[in-house]
Amino acid sequence: MCISLLGPIRGQFTVSKIMAVRQSSDIAKFKEALKSAKNVVFLSGAGISAESGIPTFRGAGGYWRKYQASSLATPEAFRNNPSLVWEFYHYRREVAAKAQPNRGHIAIAEYEAKYGTNKSITVITQNVDNLHAHAGTKNLIELHGNLYKTRCTKCREVLVNTDSPICEALANKGAPDVDVVGSNIPIKSLPHCKKPNCNGLLRPHIVWFGESLEHEVLEKAGEVMENCDVCLVVGTSSVVYPAAMFAPQAAARGAIVAEFNLEPTPATPDFHYYFEGPCGTTFTTTSRREHLYGKHAYWHFQLSHI
Ligand SMILES: NC(=O)c1ccc[n+]([C@@H]2O[C@H](COP(=O)([O-])OP(=O)(O)OC[C@H]3O[C@@H](n4cnc5c(N)ncnc54)[C@H](O)[C@@H]3O)[C@@H](O)[C@H]2O)c1
Ligand SMILES: [Zn+2]
Repeated sequence: MCISLLGPIRGQFTVSKIMAVRQSSDIAKFKEALKSAKNVVFLSGAGISAESGIPTFRGAGGYWRKYQASSLATPEAFRNNPSLVWEFYHYRREVAAKAQPNRGHIAIAEYEAKYGTNKSITVITQNVDNLHAHAGTKNLIELHGNLYKTRCTKCREVLVNTDSPICEALANKGAPDVDVVGSNIPIKSLPHCKKPNCNGLLRPHIVWFGESLEHEVLEKAGEVMENCDVCLVVGTSSVVYPAAMFAPQAAARGAIVAEFNLEPTPATPDFHYYFEGPCGTTFTTTSRREHLYGKHAYWHFQLSHI
């Protein structure tokens, strides 16, 4: 099946308003459900990286120059002006490269390290910033690609590329200020495939709006979602499809779903638990274990105190 990445059109795909879920914010009760779960999935979105200083696509941070960020994440934008889109992605690569995983990312990685031998724990992320991996998450499905991978538009080769800048011509480019206009780096100076006889233009290996998710990635994510007993939905607006369908579908077949967000989303009524606030806080407690870790505050996934 071929499913394209689609923006906010929830009505078209929405899982029938499942059931009138009786919702709770009782963390102790949720911990009990998590404790007995065998298959746990975290479904994360841009909100989990907000506390690392990476803008989400919603609200004021969703603009780069005068453009709505999501309008540049399209194949049309790349066709019309590859220079502009590469400047935008160069900017995002540089921001994400300087960012550090926050308490939310770290707590999830620690939860996996602690319980991963007894439970199947998977992180499915819509994020492309690499911060889950950076925090130490091992069992990770990146639905929408990764800022540090490129794909050749000619031979389709996918490669990891962490160069900064990714090419000479992008050095000192990508300023996000609204008064910066135009972008006219010649195509030949943008990143190109180094394979002999190819020299195709490279693009970010990101699933753009209107494009299909990779079949294997979607299949793997679908399998994990179908088997989970508990799903934690963290920092996603639940409006970008197909990821937006995953948790409501899991809830509809009886999995326990808990949402962690700053504010309710269109999917909130579908879920059993809703925990409001920045997930770096709602997810974690801070404590000191000086005897073990020196004077550093240490974050626990508060759901792991079980
Ligand atoms: N960091 C990234 O990699 C990144 C950043 C921007 C956009 N994107 C891409 O854009 C698309 C956007 O969809 P999305 O749902 O992931 O993000 P989104 O931008 O649509 O929504 C972000 C959600 O996070 C919530 N949020 C913000 N700060 C939070 C916090 N501290 N704690 C908890 N929740 C918080 C917001 O209320 C909102 O519901 C995805 O396809 C994603 O690939 C990725
Ligand atoms: Zn190539």
